[in-house]
Amino acid sequence: MGQLGQDSTIQLAENLAIPAIGLGTWPMEGADAQDAVERAIGHGYRHIDTATNYNNEDAVGRAIAQSSVDRDDLWVTSKLNRSGHGRDEVKQAYADSLQRMGLDYLDSYLVHWPNPDDGKFVAACEGLQELVDGGKLRSWGVSNFKPAHLDAVYAAGLTPVMNQVQIDPHHLQPEQLAHNDRYELVTAAYSPLGRAGEFLEDPAVTSLAEHYGKTPAQIVLRWHLDSGRIAVPKSASDTRQQQNLDVFDFALSAQDLETIDALDTGAGPRLDADEFGH
Ligand code: A2P
Repeated sequence: MGQLGQDSTIQLAENLAIPAIGLGTWPMEGADAQDAVERAIGHGYRHIDTATNYNNEDAVGRAIAQSSVDRDDLWVTSKLNRSGHGRDEVKQAYADSLQRMGLDYLDSYLVHWPNPDDGKFVAACEGLQELVDGGKLRSWGVSNFKPAHLDAVYAAGLTPVMNQVQIDPHHLQPEQLAHNDRYELVTAAYSPLGRAGEFLEDPAVTSLAEHYGKTPAQIVLRWHLDSGRIAVPKSASDTRQQQNLDVFDFALSAQDLETIDALDTGAGPRLDADEFGH
């Protein structure tokens, strides 16, 4: 489990402090994606999350090039597709992502889906570790890896820095979170607001919002952070982008966290990584 630092980052490893809130970029593409990322950086976002499959790495790269923020002051994550699975294939996938983004390194590159039917995700992780060892990539991780997939990775002696999975108050997946914790693997939540889920109107959340003088979305994002998770909410709106980053001036109590944990419906994620992947 991660721990939120005073400077709103989570330490993934030595010299690897990731801003705890990142901008999710799916499903924005082209000029919309570039514009949203440029505005987000202007609002103070220093962590941008993309993927080869989002078809917007080029637009995200253009936004980064346009910004006046130093590249080294940004955290940029992308993710590789099934075609990059394999020890050598992953190196080509990484080179292609860098070329699309116009960057010379990424802060993290994640295996987007395990695609267990291919059986090559461990080889992809080995290739990613070699990129890190060679100084070409700062860190690597996984996404949508269920406990059995993580077991295979760790059994090979490999240690990703994060597992990005779909978590929100209605989809808490305590077994998945416990498994990440067992490996001291930091969890990053995608769709952390559940695509503006119904829980934003649940009295358990709205009463905390009233108590802390925050919006329901800010309460849910703070719940992720105080539970040790990174969160990558997507927003194209200026107001909501700013709101989603304005969560560092208050903290929830242990009891507040339990109140939100209790909203879990027991449902799994929208997509099952043993069935779906790309
Ligand atoms: P918008 O871009 O108009 O802000 P995901 O859960 O996959 O990250 O998607 C986030 C969804 O929640 C988007 O539809 C986004 O719409 C919306 N959203 C983002 N931030 C907020 C917020 N603070 N309050 C309500 N809805 C939000």
